[in-house]
Amino acid sequence: MTSKKSVLFVCLGNICRSPAGEGVLLKLLEQQKLLDEIEVDSAGTMGYHIGKPADARMRQAAAKRDVPLPSRARQVTKADLDRFDWVIAMDRENLADLQRLHPSPRANVCLFSKFLDQTWPTDVPDPYYGGDDGFEYVLDMMQAGCPKLIEAVRAID
Ligand code: 4NP
Repeated sequence: MTSKKSVLFVCLGNICRSPAGEGVLLKLLEQQKLLDEIEVDSAGTMGYHIGKPADARMRQAAAKRDVPLPSRARQVTKADLDRFDWVIAMDRENLADLQRLHPSPRANVCLFSKFLDQTWPTDVPDPYYGGDDGFEYVLDMMQAGCPKLIEAVRAID
């Protein structure tokens, strides 16, 4: 039995993109019976929405795919970057903010698009100020990349 691994998804507000990543990954881990092996959480680089559930539009889009979104918004801390094994930034701005917060983290800090092929954009687009299709697109991206993310997490001891 290998030791438990941990993954933290990070976006700006922790109410749209990173809760979607957390929910999609949790569902896959449950299906693959890997919940004992990999722990999942999410956080935001800003603190405007602390304590709030995921945005209602994202919860509705996720529910249609039978993806649970259990998160309550919190702000990422420097300690998270030493505690988690993987910290996954949704876009390059999130990544730069994380690098500023902790320039020498223990975590493997990277962009979500590292787990996607070239047909997808580098940044997961922020859906907050857009229409419903933006929320669907974020979920499409999460469902495309999370299987590769699981492989990567399991590959490193
Ligand atoms: P998220 O989306 O970073 O995917 O959670 C946003 C949520 C809220 C805001 C911006 C982005 N906001 O400005 O309040």
